[in-house]
Amino acid sequence: MRCSVAEDADETVLGFQSLKLARKGNIYDVTPGWGIIGTHIRPEAARRGVGRALFSATLEAAKAAGLQHIDASIAADNPEGLAYYQAMGFETYRTPDGLICKRYSL
Ligand SMILES: CC(C)(COP(=O)(O)OP(=O)(O)OC[C@H]1O[C@@H](n2cnc3c(N)ncnc32)[C@H](O)[C@@H]1OP(=O)(O)O)[C@@H](O)C(=O)NCCC(=O)NCCS
Repeated sequence: MRCSVAEDADETVLGFQSLKLARKGNIYDVTPGWGIIGTHIRPEAARRGVGRALFSATLEAAKAAGLQHIDASIAADNPEGLAYYQAMGFETYRTPDGLICKRYSL
């Protein structure tokens, strides 16, 4: 649905965030019709608000598409990822093996 890329003034890529539409039978087992989010920020650029800025763009796309929920499936041993999505307003709704799945409701 949308992939947003953050760059610095030298056009160095600082990170990206993808928003996909869950379809029937998707490998993440997410309810069809929900969004599925993925984020990666360059380690050197972490904790500078890049993730927050990307989520603002993603949220715009999600609203424009009329999504009601977005899933973030995070490895259970990734405290940074869990803290980031929690800070963006996601809440845990299921915990399959090794994962913590968080949901954002629009
Ligand atoms: C997790 C990740 C997306 C955070 O991106 P970021 O650009 O550093 O996040 P921001 O600087 O916008 O932080 C936004 C908020 O998230 C939380 N947060 C982000 N990183 C955090 C960390 N390492 N520890 C605790 N809280 C954190 C904080 O509340 C932060 O707000 P604050 O800085 O005002 O306290 C980034 O570190 C990353 O890509 N990590 C590797 C891949 C990954 O884990 N992806 C997500 C799970 S699949």
